[in-house]
Amino acid sequence: MGVRHLADQPAQSSALQPAALPGDSGGLFISFEGIDGAGKSTHITALADAFRQAGRAVTLTREPGGTALAEKLRQVVLNDAMDPLTESLLIFAARRDHVVNVIAPALARGDVLLCDRFTDASFAYQGGGRGFDLAVLSTLEAWVQACDDDAELPTQKLLQPHLTIWFDLPPEEAALRLADARMPDKFEAQPLAFFRRVAAGYAARLQREPHRFARIDASQAPDAVGRDIRQVLLARGWL
Ligand code: TMP
Repeated sequence: MGVRHLADQPAQSSALQPAALPGDSGGLFISFEGIDGAGKSTHITALADAFRQAGRAVTLTREPGGTALAEKLRQVVLNDAMDPLTESLLIFAARRDHVVNVIAPALARGDVLLCDRFTDASFAYQGGGRGFDLAVLSTLEAWVQACDDDAELPTQKLLQPHLTIWFDLPPEEAALRLADARMPDKFEAQPLAFFRRVAAGYAARLQREPHRFARIDASQAPDAVGRDIRQVLLARGWL
């Protein structure tokens, strides 16, 4: 299964199999989500090390970003004021470039792909935080993440992470952590009410797809958070 290209040329990555387990050529796609301040970064690095020690090739990437073009769009999205549709279009444009040039090829190689944020962040931040139209986000998701190859299937398949690790932290606690942080970007500077809506956006995504999500209590000490993440991977037989 490959990413569907809207132009006529054939898909580049014909071996993409979102449902595959580690060890298959389809690779493993894990995304990490949470409100700003939830503390994802160190745990993503630690997990990358754990997979490498287990003999897996790891691609570590992030959104918005992950390609030269997407990183340019990231700078604009994180720093310039714009309306929610413009913001969503730029984020999904960055995502498309990332999917085509990094995510699909890495999964086709059989890598473990660890992605710091993916489309759930758009539903949480643009949909929840900004109150932007979820139906438009679903349309953009369908365009950007459409997979082809299974023409006999009546429903369109979407490229989605096999697992999304959600760092769930009360927005009040995240705000305290962010207070000591470097210069906040456009999102980090948002008020508490914004992050409450973002958190509710993540909770709604989990409710829609409970099997894809693992909720981690991110208010625990870092050691306990790391242990819980490892446990999720061990339970699936992926580490
Ligand atoms: P980061 O600081 O965790 O790298 O995330 C960048 C910021 O971009 C973060 O505040 C969340 C925001 N964001 C969105 O608003 N929509 C998205 O789709 C993504 C991926 C990130």
